[in-house]
Amino acid sequence: MIAVLGATGQIGGEVARLLADGPADAVALVRDPEAAGVPLPAVRADLRDPETVRTALEGADRLFLVTPHVPDQERLEAVAIDAAADTGVRHVVKVSGGAPSLGPNGVTPTAVAHWRSEQRIEAAGLGFTHLRPSFYAQNLLATVAPVVASAGVLAAPLGHAPVAMVDARDVAACAVAALLDPAPRDAAWQLTGPRPITLDDVAAHLGVRYVALRPRVAGRAMRRRGADAAEVAHAVRMAAYFAAGADGVVTDHVERLTGAAPRSVEAFLDEHRAAFTPATGLARTLSRTRSKESR
Ligand SMILES: NC(=O)c1ccc[n+]([C@@H]2O[C@H](COP(=O)([O-])OP(=O)(O)OC[C@H]3O[C@@H](n4cnc5c(N)ncnc54)[C@H](OP(=O)(O)O)[C@@H]3O)[C@@H](O)[C@H]2O)c1
Repeated sequence: MIAVLGATGQIGGEVARLLADGPADAVALVRDPEAAGVPLPAVRADLRDPETVRTALEGADRLFLVTPHVPDQERLEAVAIDAAADTGVRHVVKVSGGAPSLGPNGVTPTAVAHWRSEQRIEAAGLGFTHLRPSFYAQNLLATVAPVVASAGVLAAPLGHAPVAMVDARDVAACAVAALLDPAPRDAAWQLTGPRPITLDDVAAHLGVRYVALRPRVAGRAMRRRGADAAEVAHAVRMAAYFAAGADGVVTDHVERLTGAAPRSVEAFLDEHRAAFTPATGLARTLSRTRSKESR
């Protein structure tokens, strides 16, 4: 049986949807089974309450592991990994961080935490599939779309370097392929879209101008909106990492895992065209003015 953590979230939700139509028994491990609204049988498991995770994993031989971006992410993952090792899970499919960001001296504490979790899975003797995705295209919907709609420009701190953005649904499809693999390979996969794309390309596709913010300028804006210091430091470091071109190399790993080509960012933007459209008269006017760098 496959156990799915994070089944109410972005990647785990898609994993649950794909598994609901699939050939294997699967169960969603959620904090609130009544409210979860997932398309799989749901059992209670809270990573802040290790006993619930142990109990929920009884009978599972495969685990999909994704945790939210929180300061104690590594501790939450350790709870799941230790419970998996104790209860007879033989294969953990983990959503990790972007491949170039990882390591003992990773780009951010989150990247280090992901790397340590990978090490913990391997040290426990569990079969493993580490999925290391680039920047999710869906991030554009959360961060870029509201700015385009309200200000008529694409303002972001990602510079002009190519980024190998991947659609979160393809990350989920890779997870499902790995979970259903009858002979899982102990392997790490660098998940990317089909082509590297710059924010200039994104702006051109949307027909708006791109204002490349300096990461520290964007960090100051986050602080003014009330973000805490750790969140700001994470965002600034990741922005500088992408702006430096550190995550611009595409791979064929999505296609090798799923047998299907990854979705393009352009297709994602077209799917959500309404959200990426200047929504006021002022925004439409600003979207037509000439591009220039912020200072
Ligand atoms: N954004 C990117 O570009 C990017 C790129 C590479 C890797 N990543 C990694 O992707 C991961 C985030 O994936 P996502 O977007 O799918 O996450 P998400 O949508 O935030 O989902 C997080 C899931 O974890 C569950 N959860 C939270 N606390 C829990 C607890 N104590 N016990 C059990 N479950 C709990 C949530 O359930 P509830 O409904 O109960 O809250 C939710 O289902 C992060 O690890 C991040 O580092 C992100």
